Amino acid sequence: MKALVLAAGTGSRLRPVTHTGAKQLVPVANRPVLFYALEALAAARITEVGVVIGPRADDIKESVGDGSDFGLDVTYICQEEPLGLAHAVLVSQEFLGDDDFLMYLGDNFVGEGVAHFADEFRRQRPAAQILLTPVADPTSFGVAELDAEGRVVSLEEKPRTPRSDLAVMGVYLFTSAIHDGIREIKPSARGELEITHAIQWLIEEGRDVRSTVSTGYWRDTGNVADMLDVNRHVLDSLVTDHTAVGEVDEDSVLTGEVRVAPGARVVRSRIVGPVVIGSGSVVVGSRIGPHTSIAEDCEITGSDIESSIVLLGSTVRDVPAITASLIGRHTSVRSARAGGNHHLVLGDHTRITLAS
Ligand code: G1P
Repeated sequence: MKALVLAAGTGSRLRPVTHTGAKQLVPVANRPVLFYALEALAAARITEVGVVIGPRADDIKESVGDGSDFGLDVTYICQEEPLGLAHAVLVSQEFLGDDDFLMYLGDNFVGEGVAHFADEFRRQRPAAQILLTPVADPTSFGVAELDAEGRVVSLEEKPRTPRSDLAVMGVYLFTSAIHDGIREIKPSARGELEITHAIQWLIEEGRDVRSTVSTGYWRDTGNVADMLDVNRHVLDSLVTDHTAVGEVDEDSVLTGEVRVAPGARVVRSRIVGPVVIGSGSVVVGSRIGPHTSIAEDCEITGSDIESSIVLLGSTVRDVPAITASLIGRHTSVRSARAGGNHHLVLGDHTRITLAS
């Protein structure tokens, strides 16, 4: 079985961070979200992986390389235009051949991994198998309707009135039958070739389309709130590596699981885990955590940051309360003196909330 990882999406809901970086590379606990997907594939004993890339192709190639760090053999496939998930399969035909494959949306985070889903598929080999999970608001997902035996009766993409609360997760298992469906479908109202339509075609043709309902942790990290939630989830299982730590001075207090990477420095600060601090970062006179990831080469001084992600090379100075925030790379955040004016240089699509 092969895998196809879709990493061409532009991440419009994560702007401005995605103006300059791929959304699949936004770090969660200081590791790109895409890496968790690649590890899950290796754990499922899938090694031949096609990674579909778009506008941020170079960034992804640079961080994933040939896949050998993950025990994978990665082939890059270019999707010139964002014409839908089924279109991504279409442009990957040469790589896929007639093999079975697992399709994984590169911005999805699946807490339990995919090994048992892949094994179930290997045993039963239906034409297609999808993963479903109950969600509070299914309207922004593909939604499935099942019969009493758990067979998929219908699939609808982002329905206004959903027929169930079962959202289609971003992990699909296919035999080559899916290519027949993809050849038959037409672009949807949003101008994309939808994989849900190709699966619906298989259902209407009477092919065996099955589903597995998962109640494990799952998020599509397409927006900031979900990205921060995944960061919280991953940090919750952080185990401090006491053998490799940076410098922590005597006046600092660390509680809970805190990873201070070698080359990072904590001075006169209180760190409430779970927290990760990347190498080259310096935290002085600050309070960090819980559930906070500070990437590499950051400088945090006299500030208080909680439930947030701070990306590479950013500076935060004298800001008393930052919470639920995603701070992009090489960003500078400082507080004005009491009574001073706000002085802002903000990128396109920036969102800030000022307390006063
Ligand atoms: C895509 C699929 C949708 C699925 C979702 C899961 O939506 O089209 O069926 O539920 O991924 O993340 P998109 O993220 O492209 O809007």
